Amino acid sequence: MRKTKIAVLVSGGGTNLQALIDAQKSGIITSGEIKLVVSNKEDAYALNRAQNAGIKTAVVTRKQFETRQAFEDGILSVLKAEGIQMIVLAGFMCILGEKFVKTYANRIINVHPSLIPSFCGEGFYGLTVHEKALEYGVKVTGATVHLVNEIPDGGKILMQKAVEVLEGDTPEVLQKRVMEQAEWIILPLATEKLASEINKEN
Ligand code: GAR
Repeated sequence: MRKTKIAVLVSGGGTNLQALIDAQKSGIITSGEIKLVVSNKEDAYALNRAQNAGIKTAVVTRKQFETRQAFEDGILSVLKAEGIQMIVLAGFMCILGEKFVKTYANRIINVHPSLIPSFCGEGFYGLTVHEKALEYGVKVTGATVHLVNEIPDGGKILMQKAVEVLEGDTPEVLQKRVMEQAEWIILPLATEKLASEINKEN
């Protein structure tokens, strides 16, 4: 069976990338294949995870380019060279502009560590999201996988999973629980779903 060619964009530790790699191995993801991992940070541990799994990697940093547009075009040309059909943002800490998003319209998904529309949008990323959730005092949080459009965290919601906030949680403890109980589960499921839809169209 032909598989949707997937690129995963990362900036950090890559535990969500690992969940995708594991899901590919265990047969949760069958309609697509991760062909490329692109990092905007040279030292992202996610790159090691990709290499250990035998997946091709590329590093494209903002400082290699004069403008944000040129940086995004740099990523696009790497994706094009590999024939990438679908993009998963897995802890990719850059907001993508209109041209990029339109090039892969309805073909980019992102995992966000809250129940959108809470604790999302510009400035809400990584640990900050959990700090804000704890500050606010919510009793339930979670994760969301959504389509990416030009509005940060504003695209159509594809999947969500709720996670309890417990007494005494620190941002780090809550982050780990949200990853284990929500992100690492719904990101592979949503990836498989979109990859299979793309497959059917082709
Ligand atoms: C994850 O919690 C992901 O949801 C979040 O960053 C972390 C990356 O961890 N992403 C965002 O906040 C995007 N707005 P990872 O590198 O271990 O997957």
